[in-house]
Amino acid sequence: MNMPFRTAAMAVPSDAPGAHEAGLAADAIRRRAGDRFARPVCGIVLGSGLGGLALQVKDAVHIPFADVPGFPAATVSGHAGQVIVGRLDEVPVVMLAGRLHLYEGHAPAIAGYPVRVLHALGAPVYLASNAAGGINRTFAPGDLMLVADHINLMFRNPLHGPVQPGDERFPDMAEPYDAGLRAALHRVAHALGIDLKDGVYMGLLGPTYETPAEVRMLEKFGADAVGMSTVPEVVVARALGMRVAAISLITNKAAGLSPAPLDHAEVLQVGREAAERFQQLVTGFVKELATAGD
Ligand code: HPA
Repeated sequence: MNMPFRTAAMAVPSDAPGAHEAGLAADAIRRRAGDRFARPVCGIVLGSGLGGLALQVKDAVHIPFADVPGFPAATVSGHAGQVIVGRLDEVPVVMLAGRLHLYEGHAPAIAGYPVRVLHALGAPVYLASNAAGGINRTFAPGDLMLVADHINLMFRNPLHGPVQPGDERFPDMAEPYDAGLRAALHRVAHALGIDLKDGVYMGLLGPTYETPAEVRMLEKFGADAVGMSTVPEVVVARALGMRVAAISLITNKAAGLSPAPLDHAEVLQVGREAAERFQQLVTGFVKELATAGD
């Protein structure tokens, strides 16, 4: 008898961590943080080059991913991630330094799992950050882009499989990035004199960067920036009813849009300068969340 054909990519891992494991993870994190735990106003994932924000956290408790139930024991890339609980300018937050990418071989449900943990810790808002290539020709390396919308060209969805307790089965994606939060981020950026672009983030599987022909296609599709993360996390956050915002650091012009190959040292320098603006912006944003309840 012919068995239905299922590729590894299509298979739904029955052992992927979900709502139950996220509850255990939240308990473990609360226990480790003890008195220093307060319900976070916002859960934040720090993207490549943006990890410096973790140094601004006061009374920080650092918990390696390996010590949190449900996280994979080690990532292929080797950089160990950690959960950081503490306060950003007095506002209780929880940050994840490091994320789980599909290109590392993680199932989509695992890539989205850290957001379940942020939710289980009581964070009503999810703020994602990432490094991305600029497709919009007006964008320059070092620009910060507020994600207005995304296109999921990963052809994978972290919600495939049995519906998790507390999840929407068919989440509405008409406004994945909350209009109120976007307005708040623009207000904060304006007050700080930070130029914050707006654009559509295209999520691809990676790990190869795009070809110039692919970038021309993505441009026609309506993308302003391209990266290899964030989309599975945002999908899970929306299924859980969290309000979502995301910021991309444009680290380079996407393939074929720059006449000269980028100088790596220049990119790093651009990243360092931008990281400072990112830190100011996020700190201002969480302060506004704490006061205005926006
Ligand atoms: N493409 C995809 N992902 C990226 C890029 C890019 O050009 N830059 C940083 N992350």
